[in-house]
Amino acid sequence: MLSAEHAEELRRALVALEAVVALRLEERCAYAIRTSDPRQAGQALLGRPLGLPGTEGIPGTGAYAGDGPLATLVRQCPLSAAEALTVVAAVAPEIDEKFAVYYSLLSDRPGVAHLTGEVVRTLTARTFPGRLAASELLGPHGRLRGMRLIEMDAVDAGPLVGQVRPHRDLVALLTGGTRAEPELSAGFPATRLQTAHTMADLIVSAEARRQLTAALDRIRHAGRVLDDWGFARRHDGVRGTLILFHGPPGTGKSMAAAVLARTAGRPAYRVDLAALVSKYIGETEKNLAGVFDRAEEEDCILVFDEADAVFGRRTEVSDARDRYANQEVSYLLQRVERHRGVVILTTNLLGNLDSAFARRIDLQVEFPAPGVAERLALWRAVLPAALPVADGVDFAGLAERYALTGAEIRDAALDAAYLAAANGQVVTAGYLVSGIRAAFAKSGRTPPPGKG
Ligand SMILES: Nc1ncnc2c1ncn2[C@@H]1O[C@H](COP(=O)(O)OP(=O)(O)OP(=O)(O)O)[C@@H](O)[C@H]1O
Ligand SMILES: [Mg+2]
Repeated sequence: MLSAEHAEELRRALVALEAVVALRLEERCAYAIRTSDPRQAGQALLGRPLGLPGTEGIPGTGAYAGDGPLATLVRQCPLSAAEALTVVAAVAPEIDEKFAVYYSLLSDRPGVAHLTGEVVRTLTARTFPGRLAASELLGPHGRLRGMRLIEMDAVDAGPLVGQVRPHRDLVALLTGGTRAEPELSAGFPATRLQTAHTMADLIVSAEARRQLTAALDRIRHAGRVLDDWGFARRHDGVRGTLILFHGPPGTGKSMAAAVLARTAGRPAYRVDLAALVSKYIGETEKNLAGVFDRAEEEDCILVFDEADAVFGRRTEVSDARDRYANQEVSYLLQRVERHRGVVILTTNLLGNLDSAFARRIDLQVEFPAPGVAERLALWRAVLPAALPVADGVDFAGLAERYALTGAEIRDAALDAAYLAAANGQVVTAGYLVSGIRAAFAKSGRTPPPGKG
Protein backbone atom coordinates (compact mmCIF):
# COMPACT_ATOMS: atom_id res chain seq x y z
CA MET A 1 0.00 0.00 0.00
CA LEU A 2 1.08 3.55 -0.74
CA SER A 3 1.31 5.90 2.20
CA ALA A 4 -1.04 8.90 2.05
CA GLU A 5 1.90 11.13 1.21
CA HIS A 6 3.05 8.96 -1.68
CA ALA A 7 -0.53 8.61 -2.98
CA GLU A 8 -0.70 12.39 -3.04
CA GLU A 9 2.49 12.53 -5.11
CA LEU A 10 0.90 10.22 -7.67
CA ARG A 11 -2.38 12.16 -7.67
CA ARG A 12 -0.53 15.42 -8.34
CA ALA A 13 1.34 13.82 -11.24
CA LEU A 14 -1.92 12.61 -12.79
CA VAL A 15 -3.52 16.06 -12.42
CA ALA A 16 -0.50 17.57 -14.15
CA LEU A 17 -0.75 14.96 -16.90
CA GLU A 18 -4.41 15.80 -17.36
CA ALA A 19 -3.53 19.48 -17.77
CA VAL A 20 -1.10 18.51 -20.54
CA VAL A 21 -3.81 16.39 -22.19
CA ALA A 22 -6.19 19.36 -22.11
CA LEU A 23 -3.55 21.62 -23.64
CA ARG A 24 -2.79 19.16 -26.42
CA LEU A 25 -6.48 18.66 -27.20
CA GLU A 26 -6.88 22.40 -27.41
CA GLU A 27 -3.93 22.64 -29.78
CA ARG A 28 -5.36 19.84 -31.89
CA CYS A 29 -8.83 21.39 -32.00
CA ALA A 30 -7.35 24.52 -33.45
CA TYR A 31 -6.43 22.49 -36.52
CA ALA A 32 -8.43 19.27 -36.59
CA ILE A 33 -12.10 18.90 -37.32
CA ARG A 34 -13.55 15.85 -35.64
CA THR A 35 -15.32 14.24 -38.54
CA SER A 36 -16.04 10.79 -39.90
CA ASP A 37 -15.46 11.95 -43.46
CA PRO A 38 -11.88 10.89 -44.25
CA ARG A 39 -11.43 13.63 -46.86
CA GLN A 40 -12.37 16.36 -44.43
CA ALA A 41 -10.11 14.85 -41.78
CA GLY A 42 -7.29 14.75 -44.31
CA GLN A 43 -7.82 18.42 -45.06
CA ALA A 44 -7.64 19.23 -41.36
CA LEU A 45 -4.39 17.28 -40.96
CA LEU A 46 -2.89 19.13 -43.91
CA GLY A 47 -3.55 22.30 -41.98
CA ARG A 48 -1.80 21.08 -38.85
CA PRO A 49 1.82 22.30 -38.52
CA LEU A 50 4.71 19.94 -37.87
CA GLY A 51 5.60 21.90 -34.79
CA LEU A 52 4.67 24.94 -32.81
CA PRO A 53 6.96 27.73 -31.66
CA GLY A 54 7.98 28.11 -28.04
CA THR A 55 8.51 25.45 -25.40
CA GLU A 56 7.06 21.96 -24.99
CA GLY A 57 4.49 22.96 -22.39
CA ILE A 58 5.11 20.09 -19.99
CA PRO A 59 5.94 20.11 -16.27
CA GLY A 60 9.69 20.34 -15.56
CA THR A 61 11.42 17.75 -13.39
CA GLY A 62 11.10 20.16 -10.45
CA ALA A 63 7.42 19.18 -10.40
CA TYR A 64 8.48 15.76 -9.04
CA ALA A 65 9.81 16.87 -5.70
CA GLY A 66 9.81 14.99 -2.41
CA ASP A 67 10.84 11.50 -1.43
CA GLY A 68 8.00 9.48 -2.93
CA PRO A 69 8.72 6.64 -5.35
CA LEU A 70 8.10 8.79 -8.44
CA ALA A 71 10.30 11.67 -7.30
CA THR A 72 13.01 9.20 -6.27
CA LEU A 73 12.86 7.53 -9.67
CA VAL A 74 13.09 10.86 -11.50
CA ARG A 75 16.04 11.90 -9.37
CA GLN A 76 17.96 8.64 -9.40
CA CYS A 77 17.71 7.66 -13.07
CA PRO A 78 17.70 10.70 -13.66
CA LEU A 79 14.73 11.25 -15.97
CA SER A 80 14.23 14.25 -18.22
CA ALA A 81 10.92 16.12 -18.09
CA ALA A 82 9.71 14.26 -21.19
CA GLU A 83 10.80 10.89 -19.78
CA ALA A 84 9.09 11.54 -16.48
CA LEU A 85 5.85 12.53 -18.21
CA THR A 86 6.03 9.38 -20.36
CA VAL A 87 6.38 7.22 -17.26
CA VAL A 88 3.36 8.89 -15.67
CA ALA A 89 1.35 8.59 -18.90
CA ALA A 90 2.15 4.88 -19.15
CA VAL A 91 0.97 4.16 -15.61
CA ALA A 92 -2.07 6.50 -15.63
CA PRO A 93 -4.60 4.08 -17.27
CA GLU A 94 -3.76 1.53 -14.56
CA ILE A 95 -5.27 3.97 -12.08
CA ASP A 96 -8.03 5.57 -14.15
CA GLU A 97 -9.21 4.24 -17.50
CA LYS A 98 -10.28 7.71 -18.58
CA PHE A 99 -6.67 8.26 -19.58
CA ALA A 100 -7.01 5.53 -22.21
CA VAL A 101 -9.94 7.50 -23.66
CA TYR A 102 -7.87 10.71 -23.65
CA TYR A 103 -5.16 8.87 -25.56
CA SER A 104 -7.68 7.79 -28.20
CA LEU A 105 -8.66 11.47 -28.66
CA LEU A 106 -5.04 12.46 -29.07
CA SER A 107 -4.31 9.93 -31.79
CA ASP A 108 -4.86 10.85 -35.42
CA ARG A 109 -5.11 7.18 -36.28
CA PRO A 110 -8.58 5.63 -36.15
CA GLY A 111 -9.22 2.81 -33.71
CA VAL A 112 -6.44 3.60 -31.23
CA ALA A 113 -7.66 3.28 -27.65
CA HIS A 114 -4.42 3.12 -25.69
CA LEU A 115 -1.14 4.91 -25.26
CA THR A 116 1.04 4.61 -28.34
CA GLY A 117 4.51 5.95 -29.05
CA GLU A 118 2.91 8.58 -31.25
CA VAL A 119 0.59 9.71 -28.48
CA VAL A 120 3.57 9.94 -26.12
CA ARG A 121 5.26 12.16 -28.70
CA THR A 122 2.18 14.34 -28.94
CA LEU A 123 2.00 14.59 -25.16
CA THR A 124 5.63 15.32 -24.48
CA ALA A 125 6.46 17.65 -27.38
CA ARG A 126 4.96 20.31 -29.56
CA THR A 127 8.00 21.96 -31.10
CA PHE A 128 9.68 20.35 -34.09
CA PRO A 129 12.98 19.63 -32.28
CA GLY A 130 10.95 18.30 -29.37
CA ARG A 131 9.15 15.87 -31.66
CA LEU A 132 12.47 14.64 -33.03
CA ALA A 133 13.79 14.09 -29.53
CA ALA A 134 10.62 12.26 -28.54
CA SER A 135 10.93 9.93 -31.51
CA GLU A 136 14.41 9.04 -30.36
CA LEU A 137 13.36 8.62 -26.75
CA LEU A 138 10.90 5.94 -27.77
CA GLY A 139 13.08 4.29 -30.38
CA PRO A 140 14.73 0.92 -29.88
CA HIS A 141 17.69 2.52 -28.11
CA GLY A 142 15.58 4.75 -25.92
CA ARG A 143 16.54 4.84 -22.26
CA LEU A 144 13.09 4.16 -20.91
CA ARG A 145 13.04 0.77 -22.57
CA GLY A 146 16.63 0.12 -21.57
CA MET A 147 15.81 0.86 -17.95
CA ARG A 148 12.82 -1.46 -18.18
CA LEU A 149 10.37 1.25 -17.21
CA ILE A 150 8.23 0.87 -20.30
CA GLU A 151 7.70 -1.77 -22.94
CA MET A 152 6.56 -1.18 -26.49
CA ASP A 153 4.76 -3.53 -28.80
CA ALA A 154 6.56 -4.01 -32.07
CA VAL A 155 4.29 -3.43 -35.04
CA ASP A 156 5.02 -3.32 -38.74
CA ALA A 157 3.47 0.11 -39.26
CA GLY A 158 6.37 1.92 -37.56
CA PRO A 159 8.43 2.18 -34.39
CA LEU A 160 6.03 4.54 -32.60
CA VAL A 161 2.72 3.02 -33.68
CA GLY A 162 2.72 0.19 -31.16
CA GLN A 163 1.23 0.31 -27.69
CA VAL A 164 3.35 1.69 -24.86
CA ARG A 165 2.92 -0.26 -21.63
CA PRO A 166 4.39 0.35 -18.23
CA HIS A 167 6.76 -2.38 -17.05
CA ARG A 168 4.99 -4.29 -14.29
CA ASP A 169 7.71 -3.35 -11.84
CA LEU A 170 7.07 0.31 -12.60
CA VAL A 171 3.36 -0.10 -11.86
CA ALA A 172 4.22 -1.89 -8.62
CA LEU A 173 6.69 0.82 -7.70
CA LEU A 174 4.38 3.78 -8.33
CA THR A 175 1.14 2.29 -7.06
CA GLY A 176 2.63 0.71 -3.96
CA GLY A 177 2.15 -2.88 -5.00
CA THR A 178 4.90 -5.30 -4.16
CA ARG A 179 7.49 -5.90 -6.75
CA ALA A 180 6.91 -9.24 -8.38
CA GLU A 181 9.67 -11.82 -8.17
CA PRO A 182 11.06 -12.63 -11.56
CA GLU A 183 9.41 -15.71 -12.95
CA LEU A 184 9.85 -17.75 -16.06
CA SER A 185 8.76 -15.65 -19.02
CA ALA A 186 10.01 -14.64 -22.41
CA GLY A 187 11.73 -11.64 -20.83
CA PHE A 188 13.22 -13.64 -17.99
CA PRO A 189 13.82 -17.19 -19.17
CA ALA A 190 15.00 -18.50 -15.81
CA THR A 191 13.69 -20.57 -12.93
CA ARG A 192 14.27 -20.08 -9.24
CA LEU A 193 16.65 -22.60 -7.69
CA GLN A 194 15.41 -23.92 -4.39
CA THR A 195 17.13 -26.49 -2.25
CA ALA A 196 16.55 -28.57 0.86
CA HIS A 197 20.32 -28.80 1.36
CA THR A 198 22.87 -26.85 3.37
CA MET A 199 26.66 -26.68 3.16
CA ALA A 200 26.89 -29.59 5.61
CA ASP A 201 25.09 -31.90 3.15
CA LEU A 202 27.68 -31.33 0.44
CA ILE A 203 30.21 -34.15 0.30
CA VAL A 204 33.18 -32.71 -1.55
CA SER A 205 36.97 -32.77 -1.36
CA ALA A 206 38.73 -30.46 1.09
CA GLU A 207 39.98 -28.38 -1.83
CA ALA A 208 36.51 -27.96 -3.30
CA ARG A 209 35.17 -26.95 0.10
CA ARG A 210 37.89 -24.30 0.41
CA GLN A 211 36.96 -22.89 -2.97
CA LEU A 212 33.26 -22.94 -2.14
CA THR A 213 33.95 -21.05 1.08
CA ALA A 214 35.92 -18.48 -0.92
CA ALA A 215 32.96 -18.15 -3.30
CA LEU A 216 30.65 -17.63 -0.36
CA ASP A 217 32.96 -14.92 1.01
CA ARG A 218 32.83 -13.10 -2.32
CA ILE A 219 29.07 -13.18 -2.36
CA ARG A 220 28.67 -12.14 1.25
CA HIS A 221 31.31 -9.46 1.52
CA ALA A 222 31.04 -7.75 -1.88
CA GLY A 223 29.46 -4.66 -0.29
CA ARG A 224 32.31 -4.13 2.16
CA VAL A 225 35.18 -4.84 -0.22
CA LEU A 226 33.83 -3.10 -3.31
CA ASP A 227 31.92 -0.17 -1.85
CA ASP A 228 33.12 0.50 1.70
CA TRP A 229 36.74 -0.26 0.95
CA GLY A 230 36.51 1.25 -2.51
CA PHE A 231 37.75 -1.51 -4.81
CA ALA A 232 34.96 -0.79 -7.27
CA ARG A 233 35.94 2.88 -7.47
CA ARG A 234 39.63 2.10 -7.76
CA HIS A 235 39.39 -0.62 -10.45
CA ASP A 236 37.47 -1.58 -13.55
CA GLY A 237 35.67 -4.87 -13.95
CA VAL A 238 35.79 -6.02 -10.33
CA ARG A 239 32.08 -5.64 -9.73
CA GLY A 240 31.07 -9.09 -10.79
CA THR A 241 32.15 -12.55 -9.74
CA LEU A 242 32.35 -15.36 -12.25
CA ILE A 243 32.46 -18.83 -10.72
CA LEU A 244 32.93 -22.06 -12.62
CA PHE A 245 31.94 -25.51 -11.35
CA HIS A 246 33.28 -28.34 -13.46
CA GLY A 247 33.18 -32.11 -13.17
CA PRO A 248 31.38 -35.22 -14.37
CA PRO A 249 27.57 -35.46 -14.27
CA GLY A 250 25.94 -36.04 -10.91
CA THR A 251 28.76 -34.80 -8.69
CA GLY A 252 26.81 -32.00 -7.01
CA LYS A 253 27.48 -28.92 -9.13
CA SER A 254 23.87 -27.78 -9.37
CA MET A 255 23.33 -28.67 -5.74
CA ALA A 256 26.36 -26.58 -4.72
CA ALA A 257 25.09 -23.58 -6.70
CA ALA A 258 21.73 -23.71 -4.93
CA VAL A 259 23.37 -24.26 -1.54
CA LEU A 260 25.72 -21.30 -2.02
CA ALA A 261 22.80 -19.03 -2.84
CA ARG A 262 20.78 -20.30 0.09
CA THR A 263 23.69 -19.89 2.49
CA ALA A 264 24.37 -16.37 1.24
CA GLY A 265 20.67 -15.53 1.48
CA ARG A 266 20.34 -14.59 -2.18
CA PRO A 267 17.85 -15.81 -4.74
CA ALA A 268 19.41 -17.87 -7.50
CA TYR A 269 18.00 -18.42 -10.96
CA ARG A 270 18.90 -21.10 -13.41
CA VAL A 271 18.87 -19.57 -16.86
CA ASP A 272 16.92 -21.66 -19.30
CA LEU A 273 19.29 -21.86 -22.21
CA ALA A 274 16.84 -23.58 -24.48
CA ALA A 275 14.40 -20.69 -24.08
CA LEU A 276 17.17 -18.16 -24.40
CA VAL A 277 19.01 -19.20 -27.49
CA SER A 278 16.89 -18.13 -30.37
CA LYS A 279 17.29 -19.00 -33.95
CA TYR A 280 16.50 -15.43 -34.81
CA ILE A 281 19.45 -13.16 -35.31
CA GLY A 282 19.67 -10.63 -32.52
CA GLU A 283 17.01 -12.21 -30.33
CA THR A 284 19.44 -14.19 -28.19
CA GLU A 285 21.34 -11.06 -27.28
CA LYS A 286 18.15 -9.29 -26.39
CA ASN A 287 17.03 -12.19 -24.22
CA LEU A 288 20.39 -12.34 -22.48
CA ALA A 289 20.45 -8.61 -21.90
CA GLY A 290 17.06 -8.87 -20.21
CA VAL A 291 18.26 -11.62 -17.91
CA PHE A 292 21.43 -9.83 -16.86
CA ASP A 293 19.66 -6.50 -16.31
CA ARG A 294 17.04 -8.12 -14.17
CA ALA A 295 19.61 -10.06 -12.16
CA GLU A 296 21.43 -6.80 -11.39
CA GLU A 297 18.24 -5.10 -10.33
CA GLU A 298 17.21 -7.96 -8.07
CA ASP A 299 20.73 -8.72 -6.87
CA CYS A 300 20.30 -12.39 -7.63
CA ILE A 301 22.74 -15.09 -8.62
CA LEU A 302 22.58 -16.39 -12.17
CA VAL A 303 23.34 -20.03 -12.83
CA PHE A 304 24.10 -21.28 -16.32
CA ASP A 305 23.94 -25.07 -16.33
CA GLU A 306 25.80 -26.81 -19.11
CA ALA A 307 27.55 -23.56 -19.81
CA ASP A 308 29.58 -24.96 -22.68
CA ALA A 309 26.38 -24.85 -24.75
CA VAL A 310 26.49 -21.03 -24.83
CA PHE A 311 29.89 -20.15 -23.50
CA GLY A 312 31.48 -22.67 -25.79
CA ARG A 313 34.46 -22.23 -28.02
CA ARG A 314 34.15 -19.87 -30.88
CA THR A 315 34.45 -21.96 -33.99
CA GLU A 316 36.18 -21.43 -37.28
CA VAL A 317 33.85 -19.35 -39.35
CA SER A 318 32.50 -21.40 -42.20
CA ASP A 319 29.12 -19.82 -42.77
CA ALA A 320 26.90 -16.98 -41.64
CA ARG A 321 25.45 -19.11 -38.84
CA ASP A 322 28.93 -19.71 -37.36
CA ARG A 323 29.76 -16.07 -37.57
CA TYR A 324 26.57 -15.36 -35.76
CA ALA A 325 27.20 -17.98 -33.06
CA ASN A 326 30.65 -16.44 -32.51
CA GLN A 327 29.07 -13.04 -32.22
CA GLU A 328 26.80 -14.38 -29.49
CA VAL A 329 29.72 -15.76 -27.51
CA SER A 330 31.52 -12.42 -27.85
CA TYR A 331 28.48 -10.58 -26.66
CA LEU A 332 28.19 -12.91 -23.68
CA LEU A 333 31.84 -12.41 -22.83
CA GLN A 334 31.54 -8.68 -22.64
CA ARG A 335 28.16 -8.71 -20.92
CA VAL A 336 29.43 -11.08 -18.24
CA GLU A 337 32.52 -8.94 -17.80
CA ARG A 338 30.32 -5.91 -17.20
CA HIS A 339 27.90 -7.77 -14.96
CA ARG A 340 27.60 -6.36 -11.46
CA GLY A 341 26.68 -9.61 -9.79
CA VAL A 342 27.47 -13.27 -9.29
CA VAL A 343 27.35 -15.73 -12.18
CA ILE A 344 27.89 -19.45 -11.67
CA LEU A 345 28.61 -21.62 -14.68
CA THR A 346 28.51 -25.40 -14.49
CA THR A 347 29.97 -27.69 -17.10
CA ASN A 348 30.99 -31.29 -17.65
CA LEU A 349 33.51 -30.34 -20.30
CA LEU A 350 36.09 -27.85 -19.13
CA GLY A 351 37.98 -28.00 -22.40
CA ASN A 352 34.98 -26.81 -24.34
CA LEU A 353 34.93 -23.40 -22.73
CA ASP A 354 36.09 -20.45 -24.78
CA SER A 355 39.61 -19.54 -23.68
CA ALA A 356 38.85 -15.83 -23.45
CA PHE A 357 36.09 -16.83 -21.13
CA ALA A 358 38.26 -19.09 -19.01
CA ARG A 359 40.58 -16.14 -18.31
CA ARG A 360 37.77 -14.16 -16.77
CA ILE A 361 36.82 -16.80 -14.25
CA ASP A 362 37.43 -15.64 -10.68
CA LEU A 363 36.96 -18.95 -8.94
CA GLN A 364 37.05 -22.44 -10.28
CA VAL A 365 35.78 -25.42 -8.31
CA GLU A 366 36.43 -28.97 -9.43
CA PHE A 367 33.88 -31.66 -8.60
CA PRO A 368 35.72 -34.90 -9.30
CA ALA A 369 33.97 -38.28 -9.26
CA PRO A 370 33.91 -39.29 -5.58
CA GLY A 371 36.46 -41.77 -4.22
CA VAL A 372 35.72 -44.58 -1.78
CA ALA A 373 35.76 -42.42 1.36
CA GLU A 374 33.49 -39.82 -0.22
CA ARG A 375 31.13 -42.52 -1.46
CA LEU A 376 30.76 -43.83 2.07
CA ALA A 377 30.03 -40.32 3.30
CA LEU A 378 27.52 -39.92 0.48
CA TRP A 379 25.73 -43.14 1.41
CA ARG A 380 25.38 -41.85 4.95
CA ALA A 381 24.36 -38.36 3.80
CA VAL A 382 21.67 -39.29 1.30
CA LEU A 383 19.64 -41.52 3.65
CA PRO A 384 17.06 -39.52 5.60
CA ALA A 385 17.08 -40.10 9.37
CA ALA A 386 13.57 -41.63 9.37
CA LEU A 387 14.39 -44.26 6.74
CA PRO A 388 14.18 -47.75 8.27
CA VAL A 389 17.32 -49.65 7.30
CA ALA A 390 17.93 -53.34 8.12
CA ASP A 391 20.65 -54.03 10.66
CA GLY A 392 24.05 -54.92 9.37
CA VAL A 393 23.90 -53.32 5.89
CA ASP A 394 27.55 -52.94 4.88
CA PHE A 395 27.70 -49.39 3.50
CA ALA A 396 31.49 -49.40 3.57
CA GLY A 397 31.35 -52.45 1.32
CA LEU A 398 28.90 -50.77 -1.08
CA ALA A 399 31.09 -47.67 -1.22
CA GLU A 400 34.16 -49.76 -1.92
CA ARG A 401 32.56 -51.95 -4.53
CA TYR A 402 30.44 -49.57 -6.61
CA ALA A 403 31.93 -46.49 -8.23
CA LEU A 404 28.85 -44.28 -8.21
CA THR A 405 28.46 -40.51 -8.21
CA GLY A 406 26.47 -38.62 -5.57
CA ALA A 407 23.46 -38.38 -7.86
CA GLU A 408 23.59 -42.14 -8.55
CA ILE A 409 23.86 -42.95 -4.85
CA ARG A 410 20.84 -40.79 -4.17
CA ASP A 411 18.91 -42.48 -7.00
CA ALA A 412 19.87 -45.96 -5.80
CA ALA A 413 18.81 -45.15 -2.24
CA LEU A 414 15.50 -43.75 -3.48
CA ASP A 415 14.85 -46.90 -5.55
CA ALA A 416 15.62 -49.08 -2.55
CA ALA A 417 13.30 -47.04 -0.34
CA TYR A 418 10.41 -47.49 -2.80
CA LEU A 419 11.04 -51.21 -2.97
CA ALA A 420 10.98 -51.37 0.82
CA ALA A 421 7.80 -49.29 1.01
CA ALA A 422 6.01 -51.41 -1.61
CA ASN A 423 6.90 -54.59 0.25
CA GLY A 424 6.11 -53.24 3.68
CA GLN A 425 9.63 -53.76 4.83
CA VAL A 426 12.83 -52.03 5.81
CA VAL A 427 15.60 -51.18 3.32
CA THR A 428 17.79 -54.23 2.91
CA ALA A 429 21.15 -54.78 1.23
CA GLY A 430 19.28 -56.59 -1.54
CA TYR A 431 17.06 -53.59 -2.28
CA LEU A 432 20.09 -51.31 -2.28
CA VAL A 433 21.95 -53.53 -4.74
CA SER A 434 18.88 -53.59 -6.94
CA GLY A 435 18.83 -49.77 -6.89
CA ILE A 436 22.54 -49.69 -7.65
CA ARG A 437 22.08 -52.02 -10.64
CA ALA A 438 19.37 -49.70 -11.95
CA ALA A 439 21.76 -46.73 -11.61
CA PHE A 440 24.45 -48.59 -13.55
CA ALA A 441 21.93 -49.56 -16.22
CA LYS A 442 20.76 -45.97 -16.57
CA SER A 443 24.24 -44.80 -17.53
CA GLY A 444 24.80 -47.83 -19.77
CA ARG A 445 27.48 -49.40 -17.59
CA THR A 446 27.65 -52.92 -16.15
CA PRO A 447 28.12 -53.31 -12.39
CA PRO A 448 31.20 -55.24 -11.24
CA PRO A 449 30.61 -59.02 -11.41
CA GLY A 450 30.34 -61.32 -8.41
CA LYS A 451 28.06 -61.20 -5.44
CA GLY A 452 24.98 -58.96 -5.37
N1 LIG B 1 28.85 -34.00 -3.76
C1 LIG B 1 27.61 -34.28 -3.36
N2 LIG B 1 27.27 -34.19 -2.05
C2 LIG B 1 26.03 -34.48 -1.65
N3 LIG B 1 25.04 -34.85 -2.48
C3 LIG B 1 25.32 -34.97 -3.78
C4 LIG B 1 26.61 -34.68 -4.28
N4 LIG B 1 26.58 -34.87 -5.61
C5 LIG B 1 25.34 -35.23 -5.94
N5 LIG B 1 24.56 -35.29 -4.85
C6 LIG B 1 23.13 -35.65 -4.84
O1 LIG B 1 22.72 -35.83 -6.18
C7 LIG B 1 21.79 -34.83 -6.58
C8 LIG B 1 22.03 -34.41 -8.01
O2 LIG B 1 23.32 -33.79 -8.15
P1 LIG B 1 23.52 -32.48 -9.04
O3 LIG B 1 22.33 -32.29 -9.91
O4 LIG B 1 23.89 -31.38 -8.17
O5 LIG B 1 24.73 -32.94 -9.93
P2 LIG B 1 25.43 -32.10 -11.10
O6 LIG B 1 26.88 -32.15 -10.85
O7 LIG B 1 24.80 -30.79 -11.24
O8 LIG B 1 25.10 -33.02 -12.36
P3 LIG B 1 25.00 -32.57 -13.91
O9 LIG B 1 26.38 -32.34 -14.39
O10 LIG B 1 24.39 -33.81 -14.53
O11 LIG B 1 24.12 -31.40 -13.98
C9 LIG B 1 21.97 -33.73 -5.57
O12 LIG B 1 20.80 -32.97 -5.42
C10 LIG B 1 22.31 -34.50 -4.29
O13 LIG B 1 21.13 -35.04 -3.74
MG1 LIG C 1 23.70 -29.94 -12.83
